[in-house]
Amino acid sequence: MKRVDDFRLRFGKQELVPIIIGGMGVDISTAELALEVARLGGIGHISDAMVQTVSDTRFDTKFVSAKLKQYKHNVASSDKSSVQFCLATLEEATRSHVGRAMEAKRGDGLIFVNCMEKLTMNSPRDTLRTRLTAALDAGIDGITLSAGLHLGSFALIEDHPRFRDAKLGIIVSSPRALAMFLRKNAKLQRLPDYIVVEGPLAGGHLGFSMDWAQYDLATLVDEVLAFLKTEHLDIPVIAAGGIFTGSDAAAFLEQGAAAVQVATRFTVTRECGLPDKIKQEYFKASEDDIEVNTISPTGYPMRMLKGSPGIGDGIRPNCEAYGYLLDAKGNCAYIDAYNREVALHPGVKKLSVKDKTCLCTHMRNFDIWTCGQTTYRLKDTSRRLPDGSYQVLTAEQVFHDYQFSTDQKIALPD
Ligand SMILES: Cc1cc2nc3c(=O)[nH]c(=O)nc-3n(C[C@H](O)[C@H](O)[C@H](O)COP(=O)(O)O)c2cc1C
Repeated sequence: MKRVDDFRLRFGKQELVPIIIGGMGVDISTAELALEVARLGGIGHISDAMVQTVSDTRFDTKFVSAKLKQYKHNVASSDKSSVQFCLATLEEATRSHVGRAMEAKRGDGLIFVNCMEKLTMNSPRDTLRTRLTAALDAGIDGITLSAGLHLGSFALIEDHPRFRDAKLGIIVSSPRALAMFLRKNAKLQRLPDYIVVEGPLAGGHLGFSMDWAQYDLATLVDEVLAFLKTEHLDIPVIAAGGIFTGSDAAAFLEQGAAAVQVATRFTVTRECGLPDKIKQEYFKASEDDIEVNTISPTGYPMRMLKGSPGIGDGIRPNCEAYGYLLDAKGNCAYIDAYNREVALHPGVKKLSVKDKTCLCTHMRNFDIWTCGQTTYRLKDTSRRLPDGSYQVLTAEQVFHDYQFSTDQKIALPD
């Protein structure tokens, strides 16, 4: 029986261990995690989600308070159209976040950045161009385009000197989405370097509607491979979502995937950005504790633990400080839901908003515990300590377990 280490992901002459750790915003897939994966010869992702906030936490900048100060006069208004990001600041924050990770990189692996189109930031094109350009300027090895169709994203950077040298990939959940992306970008004569096919069991936002359970990753991977064959395209396909063991991963590689993208098992590693207390929630979770709901203002279903404190919370929208999900007109579905509740319950101080959540605030505070469907199996990957808690793992240990294990075995920590 084959194991992951019998395979290599090839980009030209470069050979990598075919394990990619997916991007997990907001700073759940930290630079430390990505660096460790690069050191081990795979591909790690950082994420540029809420990069100004991440920079404040990590590098002691004051981007958020400066933005809030600038727009404080607007806090009580439900019209957020004037709350714009300063592009120079966004560029500075992205460059520093990406640049520091790249400077610290050791080993033969790569570091990519996960770039979600749904972070529309009240000026979708300009902010996305700034984010992509700044990441390329700062030397990122590759960019994974996610959470959206990204039909215009390549064109935003086609004049960048690194447009043809950096690795650029796209996450899709259907051959149809891939076909649209390729058609739209045909005139640029620049194919993606890799295609991540993300199935319905993944963490974060899903590229499916609420009928996600009808889909299955192996079938989607087959469909995408068949589509590429008929188009005579040779692009590495990366399988993602619910791949829990080294044997699961090896099965996808034997099926024709060039690599796997995994995330959930790394949420309980030391290098992951979740606070330790929340890592324990992930360990403890049972299958019944996990749900896919529609509270994300992005409109995509999202998987999370039912116990996430952000579910049902009715905090006032924080767009003056954050505002990452404001669309091109300055709207966000949470603002509408919040205003509706305010109108229905005049004078009530602590509101509950059930149908949407202020995702910026709650992701920033680690109060939405997004997770993959296999989270309930994490307890089987560790040991219980005398105090009843689970032993946090190291990224190296989980990476090596994926790389070398066979027969559905999972190596427990020493
Ligand atoms: C906690 C968590 C946060 C995630 N956040 C993002 C994200 O910000 N952007 C994204 O494209 N994918 C995100 N994902 C999806 C992962 O990158 C990855 O493709 C997927 O979860 C792999 O499946 P697995 O978790 O079952 O291994 C997230 C996944 C998890 C578990």
